[in-house]
Amino acid sequence: MCRELKKYYGLYRNINVDNCCNVVGMNTETNSQTMTLSPLCERDSQSRSCGGVSLSQPLDPISAVTAPDPYPLYAALVAERPLYFDDRLGMWVACGAEVIERILSCRAFRVRPLNEAVPKPLLGTRAGDIFGQLVRMRDGGSQVALKQAVCSAFAPVDTKALVRRSDAWMQHLLQAHPPADRTVGSGGTPPDIACALPVYAVGSLLGTPSDLLPSSVFWMEDFVRAIAPGSTSEQIARGSAAAENLVAMFQGLLQQAQFPDHRNPRGMPVNLGLLSSFARSACRHAGHEEVTIIANAIGFLSQSYEATAGLIGNTLIALQKRPKLQRKIEDEPAMLGSVIREVARHDSPVQNTRRFLVEDKVIAGQKMRVGDAVLLVLAAGNRDPAANSDPEHFDPDRCNPSLFTFSAGAHLCPGAKMALALAQGGVQHVLASEIDLERLVAGFGYRASQNGRIPMLNWETTRS
Ligand code: HEM
Repeated sequence: MCRELKKYYGLYRNINVDNCCNVVGMNTETNSQTMTLSPLCERDSQSRSCGGVSLSQPLDPISAVTAPDPYPLYAALVAERPLYFDDRLGMWVACGAEVIERILSCRAFRVRPLNEAVPKPLLGTRAGDIFGQLVRMRDGGSQVALKQAVCSAFAPVDTKALVRRSDAWMQHLLQAHPPADRTVGSGGTPPDIACALPVYAVGSLLGTPSDLLPSSVFWMEDFVRAIAPGSTSEQIARGSAAAENLVAMFQGLLQQAQFPDHRNPRGMPVNLGLLSSFARSACRHAGHEEVTIIANAIGFLSQSYEATAGLIGNTLIALQKRPKLQRKIEDEPAMLGSVIREVARHDSPVQNTRRFLVEDKVIAGQKMRVGDAVLLVLAAGNRDPAANSDPEHFDPDRCNPSLFTFSAGAHLCPGAKMALALAQGGVQHVLASEIDLERLVAGFGYRASQNGRIPMLNWETTRS
């Protein structure tokens, strides 16, 4: 057994009361020394009590996503089991950077299981119709052509302007979110400001009129809940109603895009920059129809939504833990960009993604069979010492870090630069405001998710 795994098992056996730390807000940099963890694949207990403090322990790489500190588990897996079959999860788990890279670049690994382009519970629903059209959920020739259209539409986006736009939206949301108007929303809990920000920023790039932005946030919340693995029939019904509204909104916008001067029915000029350029390039590259264009415009919002919120939240947490770094940014605001990029590596908002095999393969000596699923732990790849030296260390000055956060290969995130710019604008506004980071992050937990590490911060305290 390697040293990392021995340490891992050893810590589990010798719970040290002096070393107990609370389950939230702990230092994710070096606490393999201070956190007790369960052995791999242990089935019996989710959490145990230690000196009156409950210690939640990640039992596998999915429960790790929202655990206080998944990183000791990932480090142990990278060192000992870069690719293994997890009985608990019923799938392969890839944690080593080299294995992840190999799988992401291999055409035999697809984003959807064979013969299940759309998850069964979503079949025949409006949310499922959108899901099936997304570039993210396709493979092969149709994905390549659509991806080209997406990339050509995103290429001209001015990221410096996006930082400013995002800063301004954060200022607006801190005053106006959630909307006081009770007719906005679906009756559920309002999504927080970090989730609202990407919808406002990307939505307005796509031409969403400002009076529809507050509702778009609620629709997006319902839509992403519906398409998440394990969604309930009620969530799917809500998500489908939300999808209906989003489709109607984008249909209206596309109709306006036919007019040369881009005016809405009330005669107001609208900026349909990203939507028009995507529609044009989708027709040029792939001859795509309106239904595909609209579904993917909705996809731009859903891809941005929680992931960007997570990057904003994880950055604020990282800064709250590092007051010196905060002061450095005050003196040198330009360094915020590299801090955010390092947060993306060190505490990725997207911790994992999945692939499904369409033919038998041997990868890293393991025989994998057609139909097998594999969980690619991107956040573990980011901390593989073979990919990034001294990987546990948070270092914004890192030269050319290897980053798996935005995936790689055919499905590499086309919105990565936009995501970093959105997070930069949002965080820069929070830092320049009077907001007390201590209060903002106090006692935070993570949104329930199998792949997103999205902290829920106390945005309401920013009002008092
Ligand atoms: C911090 C924020 C973000 C993160 C961490 C992130 C991460 C990712 C990842 C990991 C994938 C690929 C998943 C896979 O390979 O299985 C992906 C795909 C994608 N992302 Fe992002 N993303 C972010 C923000 C955005 C934004 C702001 C946009 C657009 C405005 C966007 C648009 C897309 C699209 C369209 C795809 C599908 C690409 C394809 O399948 O070819 N993302 N993203």
